[in-house]
Amino acid sequence: MQRLMDETHRDPNAAEQEPKRVFVKSYGCQMNVYDAQRMTDALDARGYRETADVGSADLVILNTCHIREKASEKIFSELGKLKLMKAAALTEGRSVQIVVAGCVAQAEGGEIIKRQAAVDLVIGSQNYHRLPELLDRARGAGPVVDTEFPVESKFDHLPTPSAARMAARGVSAFVTVQEGCDKFCSFCVVPYTRGAETCRPVSAVIDEVKSLISSGISEITLIGQNVNAYHGLDAQGRDVSLAKLIDHVGKVPGISRIRYTTSHPRDMSDDLIEAHRDVPSLMPYLHLPVQSGADRILAAMNRKHTSADYIRLIEKIRRARPDISFSSDFIVGFPGETDQDFQATMQLVAEVQFASAYSFKYSPRPGTPAAVLVDQVGEDVKAHRLAQLQQLLDQQRHAFDKASVGKTLPVLFEKPGRHPGQQVGKTPYLQAVYVTEASNLIGKVVDVAILEAMSNSLRGAVSSSQLGGASN
Ligand code: 5AD
Ligand code: SF4
Repeated sequence: MQRLMDETHRDPNAAEQEPKRVFVKSYGCQMNVYDAQRMTDALDARGYRETADVGSADLVILNTCHIREKASEKIFSELGKLKLMKAAALTEGRSVQIVVAGCVAQAEGGEIIKRQAAVDLVIGSQNYHRLPELLDRARGAGPVVDTEFPVESKFDHLPTPSAARMAARGVSAFVTVQEGCDKFCSFCVVPYTRGAETCRPVSAVIDEVKSLISSGISEITLIGQNVNAYHGLDAQGRDVSLAKLIDHVGKVPGISRIRYTTSHPRDMSDDLIEAHRDVPSLMPYLHLPVQSGADRILAAMNRKHTSADYIRLIEKIRRARPDISFSSDFIVGFPGETDQDFQATMQLVAEVQFASAYSFKYSPRPGTPAAVLVDQVGEDVKAHRLAQLQQLLDQQRHAFDKASVGKTLPVLFEKPGRHPGQQVGKTPYLQAVYVTEASNLIGKVVDVAILEAMSNSLRGAVSSSQLGGASN
C-alpha cells in the first residue's frame, strides 16, 4: 500500500524540472525531528530537495513546539524575518511559500495567519501526508489552514522515503511508534496539540525499522509522547506492549542498539522492566520524567504517582539491570510550589542520582488546567529554584561522566569530530565520546577506553586490537 502511494505521488516530470528547495527548521522534541524527515520525504517525491540555506529556499517550514511559552514566542519573531525574505525574493521574481507546522500550528490555527499574513499554510501534525496537496491549494487560492484530526492515519499515506534519503539519515534514527497522550498532566499542552493516544501497528514499525537498518542505520530510538503506553496491534489483531515490540525490533538482523523515549512512570510495566534485563540491544539508559519530588505538587500536576512510587520504581529497574542510568524532566515553580516542596525535589534528585536531566521553569500554557490556578509562583523564585536544581543536576552529570574514566565502554560512532582526525560517538548512556583515530569508525560499535571527562563530552582511545575486530 505504501509503495503504491509512493509511486502515485511521484511527479513524473520532477527529474527534468529544476528542483525546488525546501528549508525546514524544527523546534522542540524528537518527534518534531522525525516529523520533519517525513515531511521532506513527502516533498522529495514531489521534486523538492532539502537545503540548509534558508535564503535559497522556495519553501520554508517552521516545525514548531508549543510546550513552553518561550518555544512558541520564537516562532513569531522568526516569521517576521521570513516575511522580509519572502518580499525580497518576490522582487527577484521568486515566490517563496511559508508553512507553520507542528504544535503551535495545531494550537493557534488561523490566528497565525491573522498575526502574520506572509504565512501560506498552517498545518497540524496529523496532516503531513496532505502537505504537497495543501501547498498546491495555497498557491492557487491563498492561505490554507488544516489542523483537523483526520480519521485516516498520516502513516498510511506518507510515502516511503527513497533509499538515498534513508542512507542520508546517518547512524541513528527515530521511529515514531505512538503519538498523542491521554494522561492530561495539568501543565501540559500535548494532549490538546497532539490529540489522543494512537499507536502504529507492529508490522508498520518493523517494516520501517528493517528498511532503516538495511540502509545502514545501527541504532533505533522508538519515540512517542507516552511511548511506554504503546499497545499496537500485531498481524493477528492482538495487543502488543512496548516490551514485546522491543523484543521484535531486537530480532531485526543488523540492529545494534534500541532506545525508547519518552516514558511515564505509571506505564513502566513489569514486562518492560524485564526487557531491560533480557534484550541485549536495549540500552541501559532510561529517560523517565518525574517532574517534581513533592507529593502535593505531583497530585496537583495529575501525575498519579508519588515521590516514593518513583523511587521504588527506579530501585526495581536497577535490580533488573544494575548498570542502568537515568535521566528525567523537572518543572520548578508549578503553581503553589513552596520552598519545602522544592526541597523535596532536591531530595529526590539526591536520592536517585541522575546521569543527565532537563529542567524547566513552569510556563502557564493557555487551555491547560494549571494555567488558571491562582497561586502562580513569581519569576524570580522560579529562576532561583531552577539555578539551584540545575547546579545539583550538573554536579550529578559530571560525577557520572567522571565515574566513566578508566572504564572501557562500547561506543557507536556517528560522525567526524570538529577537529581533523576526530570521530565522535555515543556510549550506551548517551555520553558523547571523541577519539582521534585514522581508520573509519562511523557506523561501528567499538570498545573505547575512557581517558578524560570534559565539560560536555568524554575523551577516549580505541585499543588497536579493537580496530581489527570492529563490527556493526
Ligand atoms: N511548563 C514547563 N515545563 C513543561 N513541560 C511540559 N509542559 C510544561 C510547562 N507548561 C516539560 C515537562 C515535560 C517536558 C517535555 O517539558 O518537564 O516532561
Ligand atoms: Fe504531557 Fe507527558 Fe503528561 Fe502526556 S504524560 S500530559 S505528554 S507531560
